Amino acid sequence: MRKTLQWALAILLLTVAIFAPRYAEVDKPILRALFGDQVDPATLHRQGEFVENNLGTERRSDGSFVLRMVAQQYIFVPHCVEIPAGESVELRMTSADVVHKLTIANTQYALEAVPGAVTEKKLEFPQPGDYGMPCQEFCGPGHYWMRAQIHVVPKEQLASVKPGERVNCDAR
Ligand code: CUA
Repeated sequence: MRKTLQWALAILLLTVAIFAPRYAEVDKPILRALFGDQVDPATLHRQGEFVENNLGTERRSDGSFVLRMVAQQYIFVPHCVEIPAGESVELRMTSADVVHKLTIANTQYALEAVPGAVTEKKLEFPQPGDYGMPCQEFCGPGHYWMRAQIHVVPKEQLASVKPGERVNCDAR
């Protein structure tokens, strides 16, 4: 009995030792789906955080910016977003249908949008710039055309955005 326990413990420790350094590669959207914020893909457009007029970049009451996006076959909504350079912006994203992956060209960002779960990520761009955001998870026949744009602008450009207000990228 005691031997069995020792073996079980040894195998457990070995498993932890093997996987701990690879924690960054663990598919956390799955963990989020189990333990994180839940959203119902069926009612996404009608109620809650991800209704259409709540999407895009918004200044929160503490002065920071949050960027909310929905991925769906075959667009990201909004398809054009704007955030300030030189500060941390919280991205919150979900999917209305299947798994998509928002990537930001020429950066390390690759973020899965999973139906039922909220993907959270701090976006940080030291310098202004424009980037394409293609979907990198095959999500159906329209996958290769699924992309959005992100404009990282000097933060002074967003200085007049008040808490609760959103940044309209398309207007610029
Ligand atoms: Cu969405 Cu590929």
